[in-house]
Amino acid sequence: MTHLVSPKPPIVHEELAHIGAGLQMVDDPTGYLTRLREQYGDTFLVDVFGYKLFCTFSGRGLESLYKLEEDAASFGFATFDLLGFKTPTEIFIDTNLSIFYEMLGIRKLPYYVDVIHGVLDLELPRLGAQGEVDVFDMVRTLQQRVGFGLWIGIDAARDGTWQRLKEQFDVLSQESAFANPRETLATIVSGKARERAALQALYDILDEIHAARAGSDAHANDSLTFMHAKFADCDEVTRRRKVAHNVINANQGFLSNLYAALAWVVVRLLQHDDVLEQVRAEARRTAAEFGPDFLRQVEALNSMHYLEQVLMESVRMAQRSITLRKVLRPVEFDDGDTVYTVQPGAYITTLLSVTNLQTDELRRFDPEHYEGNRLRPGLAAAGKETVSTFGHGTHACPAQKLSHAMCKIVVHRLLDAFDLAAEFADPRPAAGQLGGVARPGEAATVRYRSRAG
Ligand code: HEM
Repeated sequence: MTHLVSPKPPIVHEELAHIGAGLQMVDDPTGYLTRLREQYGDTFLVDVFGYKLFCTFSGRGLESLYKLEEDAASFGFATFDLLGFKTPTEIFIDTNLSIFYEMLGIRKLPYYVDVIHGVLDLELPRLGAQGEVDVFDMVRTLQQRVGFGLWIGIDAARDGTWQRLKEQFDVLSQESAFANPRETLATIVSGKARERAALQALYDILDEIHAARAGSDAHANDSLTFMHAKFADCDEVTRRRKVAHNVINANQGFLSNLYAALAWVVVRLLQHDDVLEQVRAEARRTAAEFGPDFLRQVEALNSMHYLEQVLMESVRMAQRSITLRKVLRPVEFDDGDTVYTVQPGAYITTLLSVTNLQTDELRRFDPEHYEGNRLRPGLAAAGKETVSTFGHGTHACPAQKLSHAMCKIVVHRLLDAFDLAAEFADPRPAAGQLGGVARPGEAATVRYRSRAG
């Protein structure tokens, strides 16, 4: 490993080379890297199952990480390596960030808001008059269905269709790959057989949806129509494939962090009566200013800063994202003490949960840590990049606004529709989770009863 970074950084030694670090990473990545940091300092090199991770946690190191340029230390290639165990690689080949940005930009917020409400009108009654659910499972399904509405069209969110889509999307889920190493092994050994079968099924379902629209212009503005127009010049087979792959990519990106974030917000509201009361008070104020349909108005949604703070704080505490950049050409990397030269073959990386909770104050849940979506000054004294929710720099999340809008709509529509009560004590992010906003280690059960009588 020594040839990868010069001058030589602290290098982690485990009794079992590669595997020793790997097993501890799988077991508890946050705990393991926190312990290494105590032992080796803010910068070190560790070999995890053959991946050479040049880890950084100092303020200056993180600033340098987020400034790295894509052609030198790549987010795209690192993501490919991280997700490629599970996702059929043909999906990556047909998709790229610019198509995703186009989809995000072209639809704009008022369109998203309408679709989110449209799907919630279908999904909330499905919960029935009363019951018990794991709030993470419930919000996941709800958000998947919204995703089908947003990134395909409202016809994909209808009964009978969304369940078929969900069945296949669940096979492709990255989350299950991270949560269950045994399943990942089965995926690798089988050459992704189940995943490829799911892909085939999705090609067929998307074709069916498209064919059923023939002659109707009711879907002129939605994402499936946009995708078909985007690849109109391709031959039929290529178009079918590219449309499906981009639809899949958008749905997976949409689901990856947001549903767990929304579920944590519900958990926090049920744990903290004072926070719940402030959220309700904000809704009353907004309704007084914008009228009873304020949840359908972008301006009104944007004005609701308190719930934004609750989302930021909930995400900050549950964030388990790994920031990973694959070095493609030698780069100079300044960690504040030393300027290293890092060679291709290494990944420059950090794990958000190691620094997001690194002071006593940061280990405490308090929405007042944020002012709107901005962390209050002084909380990240070591450098602003030491606290991260939606990321920093050129790869920071482009969907933050959409995520806040979705959170406000979902939370208030749930609170309006149901009386909710916690059946959990104090859920904590699952120790083994690596990547994304974590689910808790155990079920977070919520009892609900319809308020409609
Ligand atoms: C609470 C919800 C979310 C959180 C906490 C979150 C967090 C993040 C973070 C930390 C990054 C930076 C990754 C890095 O630097 O390596 C990122 C990037 C990204 N996120 Fe999100 N995200 C959320 C929701 C979403 C949603 C709903 C979508 C899609 C609709 C999305 C799409 C993306 C994309 C495309 C990127 C890559 C941007 C680029 O490289 O230019 N995210 N997100």
